Amino acid sequence: MAETGTDISIARGLLQKGDLVAVPTETVYGLAGNALNVDSVARIFEVKNRPSFDPLIVHIYDLSQLSKYVMNIPQQAERLAKEFWPGPLTLLLRKRSIIPDLVTSGLDTVGIRCPKHPMTQNLLKTLDFPLAAPSANPFGFVSPTKASHVTDQLGSKIKYVLDGGPSVVGIESTIVGFENNKTIVHRLGGISVEQIESVVGDVEVITSPTAMKSPGQLKSHYSPSKKMFVADLSKAVEMVDLQRVALLSFKDDYKAPHQVTLSPTGSLPEAAKNLFDALRILDKMPVDLIIAELVPEEGIGRAINDRLRRASAK
Ligand code: TXA
Ligand code: MG
Repeated sequence: MAETGTDISIARGLLQKGDLVAVPTETVYGLAGNALNVDSVARIFEVKNRPSFDPLIVHIYDLSQLSKYVMNIPQQAERLAKEFWPGPLTLLLRKRSIIPDLVTSGLDTVGIRCPKHPMTQNLLKTLDFPLAAPSANPFGFVSPTKASHVTDQLGSKIKYVLDGGPSVVGIESTIVGFENNKTIVHRLGGISVEQIESVVGDVEVITSPTAMKSPGQLKSHYSPSKKMFVADLSKAVEMVDLQRVALLSFKDDYKAPHQVTLSPTGSLPEAAKNLFDALRILDKMPVDLIIAELVPEEGIGRAINDRLRRASAK
């Protein structure tokens, strides 16, 4: 069973040997390994049970490292990195050959991100390689936002979980790519579309599963194991047997026996922070079904709704 602790030197020692370690980030916990070591990268796919066509994000500690791993950095990318790194933004850029093809599933672009969590920042600074890290959950399941979420699901497969407390953003990074001078958002995430547009002007948002640029965009993803669907809760409570369903509300208390509220004060960042923990709690309730309501479609609310819709697509 994985040990959980706050000792960065244990994490470093394991990573240097090629082992995997779960690391905290401000978005979600990552299952990290040496991005330049093909065996470590292969082990990430194995532990996550992740199909090899789904590429990994590479984590660096600051912008100065970027040109070691990618080339042809568009101006928009540099501006976004300067504004939002360290933070929940992943940039898709043309990879250099030092990044193994296994990391990118054979694509010629690599997703690079600079995480903000101080523990993982410190860890990255003491390593002489970047970390490949997908979210530390079995493929298709809800991402972990606490060390205990990781041990619950992957504890038997890894040796160490670096515990950095609950993830403060709580939803994965926004993935942005660049094509023919256009900036394209491929995954809605911790940095809102409005924030991106404030730096580079209008962007396109292409997160449909057919685009398949980001398999995290598979229609059904981020799912709890119970059946879930999205509805207007004020109407649903009149129609269902409340003993048999669990409700996921944004801010309102529907006085149901099984209910989790994301943010009683109606704060979208707070709702994002609580979302994945809420899905895990709901999944354990003695009910057959989860019914969730959407949150306002603005700021990080768009990413929350994206995850709710995908979690309920089966
Ligand atoms: O916030 C995050 O991004 C977290 C933390 C740990 O950094 N990581 C994360 O990784 O969410 P993962 O593997 O669960 O999701 C990464 C997504 C996948 O949907 C993958 O398909 C997409 O990024 N991706 C990675 N590299 C890509 C590339 N070169 N082109 C298109 N999509 C890419
Ligand atoms: Mg993931």
